[in-house]
Amino acid sequence: MQTIGLIGAGKIGSQVARLAVRNGYNVVISNSRGPQTLTALVAELGPRARAGTPTEAAAAGDIVVVTVPLKSYLAVPVAPLAGKVVIDTNNYYPERDGHIAALDSESTTTSELLQARLPTSKVVKAFNHIYAAALTTDGQAHGTSNRRALAIAGNDAQAKAIVAKLIDEFGFDTVDVGPLSESWRIQRDTPGYGPRRTGPELHKDLAAATRPPAS
Ligand SMILES: NC(=O)c1ccc[n+]([C@@H]2O[C@H](COP(=O)([O-])OP(=O)(O)OC[C@H]3O[C@@H](n4cnc5c(N)ncnc54)[C@H](OP(=O)(O)O)[C@@H]3O)[C@@H](O)[C@H]2O)c1
Repeated sequence: MQTIGLIGAGKIGSQVARLAVRNGYNVVISNSRGPQTLTALVAELGPRARAGTPTEAAAAGDIVVVTVPLKSYLAVPVAPLAGKVVIDTNNYYPERDGHIAALDSESTTTSELLQARLPTSKVVKAFNHIYAAALTTDGQAHGTSNRRALAIAGNDAQAKAIVAKLIDEFGFDTVDVGPLSESWRIQRDTPGYGPRRTGPELHKDLAAATRPPAS
């Protein structure tokens, strides 16, 4: 039995938690306002779920999902995530997150920022280009023809394999975008960001993605 820790329990965090408990994982969920604000979600998720602080969720998770507005990524606890697989769902919306110069200039990616914050963690980008609601409606059994695919990116092959297995259990194929530096191919405003795509379709979208030159 593995535990998935969630830092952020909003639209995406709550959906990943639902998929996790459905697939037999324990979850520890957390948000910014404290575990007492998560009692309804814990009750819905059932006996495999409990709420904690972000530090407790990070410490408890064998895999930890960071799913907060990007502006909050510097609040993610570092020490309890050391050496762990950390899934990064985050996207950059300057109107929500404020401007981050290195992202405005396309000289880095959101996931590389999180990896820099968590130098010994194994950050894997995932779940960033699917609408939260679709996480619990679009999954299909392994081997289903035309199954939906989700992109992953990361610098550690073993961590990516662990996340790909989890995503397969959750009902989706995966397409490997490459290292975190290539994760811009699935960021906001790229062809693959949002729509339902099979693996071959997503491959084409990733190849067709364009990026302004770094400034
Ligand atoms: N919504 C989507 O369909 C979707 C799809 C793919 C990717 N994403 C990306 O995934 C991330 C999360 O999106 P969302 O839609 O789930 O956001 P959301 O519904 O606004 O939820 C954000 C969660 O993060 C928590 N949080 C904020 N600051 C925190 C901190 N310092 N420590 C711990 N928890 C903190 C919030 O807790 P409080 O409520 O207590 O502040 C809340 O539980 C974003 O980067 C978003 O762009 C979203």
